Amino acid sequence: MNKTLIGLQWGDEGKGKVIDYLCQDSDVIIRYQGGNNAGHTVVIGEDKFVFHLIPSGILRKEKTCVIGNGVVIDPKILIEEIDSLKKKGIKVSAKNLKISAFSHIILPYHRIMDSLREKGRIQKIGTTKRGIGPCYVDKVSRCGIRMVDFIDEKVFSFKLKDNLREKNNIFRKVYNFKGFSFKALYDEYKAYAKVLKPYVCDLIDYFNDNRNKNFLFEGAQGTFLDVDFGTYPFVTSSSVISKNAILGSGLSFVKTKKTIGVAKAYITRVGEGPFPTELTGKLENSFRQLGGEFGATTGRPRRCGWLDLVLLKRAVLLNDVTDIVITKLDVLDSFDSIKVCTQYRKGSKLLKSFPYSLEGITPVYKTFKGWKSPVNNVRKFSDLPKAAKQYLSFIEKFVEAKISFVSVGQKREAIIKKQ
Ligand code: IMP
Repeated sequence: MNKTLIGLQWGDEGKGKVIDYLCQDSDVIIRYQGGNNAGHTVVIGEDKFVFHLIPSGILRKEKTCVIGNGVVIDPKILIEEIDSLKKKGIKVSAKNLKISAFSHIILPYHRIMDSLREKGRIQKIGTTKRGIGPCYVDKVSRCGIRMVDFIDEKVFSFKLKDNLREKNNIFRKVYNFKGFSFKALYDEYKAYAKVLKPYVCDLIDYFNDNRNKNFLFEGAQGTFLDVDFGTYPFVTSSSVISKNAILGSGLSFVKTKKTIGVAKAYITRVGEGPFPTELTGKLENSFRQLGGEFGATTGRPRRCGWLDLVLLKRAVLLNDVTDIVITKLDVLDSFDSIKVCTQYRKGSKLLKSFPYSLEGITPVYKTFKGWKSPVNNVRKFSDLPKAAKQYLSFIEKFVEAKISFVSVGQKREAIIKKQ
């Protein structure tokens, strides 16, 4: 059965672990947007794997991992990721990793532009500085360099030269930055292109030849970082929501029966932007320490808050979610009471519909009694403490979607399937 997995909050919902679990009954796992701004973590025994570009399905034998046209690829990072997997004994070859010829590559000028623009902005976004935004800008303004261009030395050379002429001018005149030497950049990146060339293919043909396989789309970031439906401008530069899976991969003929949305039992955000249930002080620090809430990509401390059900309900709607996975339930184990946001208020007015902006919104909370016992060794839903079951049941009813899995720890096996 084909599935799409999607983050229902601001990213970092624990998708890596869920993908690793779900891909057991899938054949092909596909990334369709974003780039190495993502960091999907999987813990197996004592080993911790953090994936930025390669779908985490690569850890399972017999799976094919695909990086779709909607992804922006930093060649250097991708090669590092392939090498580090190989060093850990994971097989990566053109047989189990396929890269769309139409994906776009991130070059050093994108990364520098990301940093310089962010530095100069009055209203900062808090990007990961990985060059994601500037690369998507080039794609849409038709000066991007695609994989198919990159692996052809002549085309790459021509496009790079053409781009540098314009970009170096902008770097020098607008940003007072020295710019890039064509030769140094070309020589370094030509070598990367050689390494990646065997993985590059026309995915449309590959999908057509593998029509009967089971496909799993792996969304990166989270719904409220979506460039259209997120908390703009504090968003990423790609379309994150589930329906973009087709556009970002070209896999047009599959029917996805399940859209599995992942949400933490609380909520976090990295970078700037409004966050109605954000906590401060000791309580936020408890979440950060207990949940290890530091970015897998940048190491930045994540902002933490109570679960926002108004947001979650909207994400369920936006992604047409059929099943929810609640992650990190164990992080709430020690709290005396647990809150969830059930309504928004602006000033003295209770809002009846979802606001255009989350700026100036205050949450209205419902408070639950904490369960005050560890859940990380629980493997059967019925064995969860009563208060935890009540908490989960309230979430299901509020957002009108069923919870199918609950993750109760970092380890691969710490997941409960709800019947
Ligand atoms: P960018 O994607 O690097 O341009 O960053 C834009 C915003 O999205 C910033 O607030 C980042 O912190 C956030 N962001 C991007 N990718 C992720 C992610 O994978 N997890 C959480 N936040 C992310």
